[in-house]
Amino acid sequence: MHKRAHGQITVIDGKQGIEMVKFKDPFEKLERENERKRAMRRPLVAGNWKMNKVLTAVLEFALDLKKRIADVSDVEVLICPPFPFLGPLSRSLEDSTVKVGAQDVYWEENGAFTGSVSAQMLDSVGCSYVIVGHSERRHIFGDSSEEVNKKTGAVLASYMIPIVCVGEKLEEREEMRTEEVLREQITHSLAGFNSQEALKCVIAYEPVWAIGTGKTATAHQANDAHGFIRELLRELFNGEVCDRMRILYGGSVKPENVAELMREPDIDGVLVGGASLTVDSFEKLIRYKEAVAPETQ
Ligand code: PGA
Repeated sequence: MHKRAHGQITVIDGKQGIEMVKFKDPFEKLERENERKRAMRRPLVAGNWKMNKVLTAVLEFALDLKKRIADVSDVEVLICPPFPFLGPLSRSLEDSTVKVGAQDVYWEENGAFTGSVSAQMLDSVGCSYVIVGHSERRHIFGDSSEEVNKKTGAVLASYMIPIVCVGEKLEEREEMRTEEVLREQITHSLAGFNSQEALKCVIAYEPVWAIGTGKTATAHQANDAHGFIRELLRELFNGEVCDRMRILYGGSVKPENVAELMREPDIDGVLVGGASLTVDSFEKLIRYKEAVAPETQ
């Protein structure tokens, strides 16, 4: 008799059958189920460099990072530099698994849109991801969820992965409106897409009050918001999207808190600003599994 895992298909006396397992602890079954679903979502550690660095610093970073993380294979690593560095960075990372993404995009294909960059252009310089609706875009540049929706569509049409950012402001959290804000942003940002398209997206939950402030949401606060988003995805699409879509947390993530955040069952990765700017701290974020989380110290 060959047992593979609890409750899975087993081979008993040469015949396949479903083994029914009695779980001692009622939560054990739930935990195992969550672990199984989580295993379908590859962890993603993404650096959002915002408006920082010049070309020489970008290339030095890439050379150093490649060497340092050559042995890492269980985490997907992404760097999102400013537009001018996308081409040079993706060329210098060609011989590594590190991916390159953009911080924004315009939804038109081409034409008289001075200062804008299209999804096709990003694809042509080696981008595989594009951040859309980052809180700085929403709040400094006035990007609406409807515009985020058009940008997401353009990214999907060029076969790249959109990272759709959402998050509440401090006053909205204090007014207990977090879920209402997330519902509004996600419903509008993903409007009109079918479940196959939704499956190609990543969501980043970044509470505005935690971005660049040093205030991180606690791991439980973040996980609660992620759990809410996951259930919303079930309602808007289906169970598969709910189980498979990766949801990243962002907002003052640093080497000291990454392991604790990543231990939460609904947090599938991190979108990091400040702490992604030096190779030392970015490497520590990528190696979050090796960090000893505070609770276990
Ligand atoms: P932060 O930024 O890590 O500096 O808080 C995160 C983000 O804006 O994506």
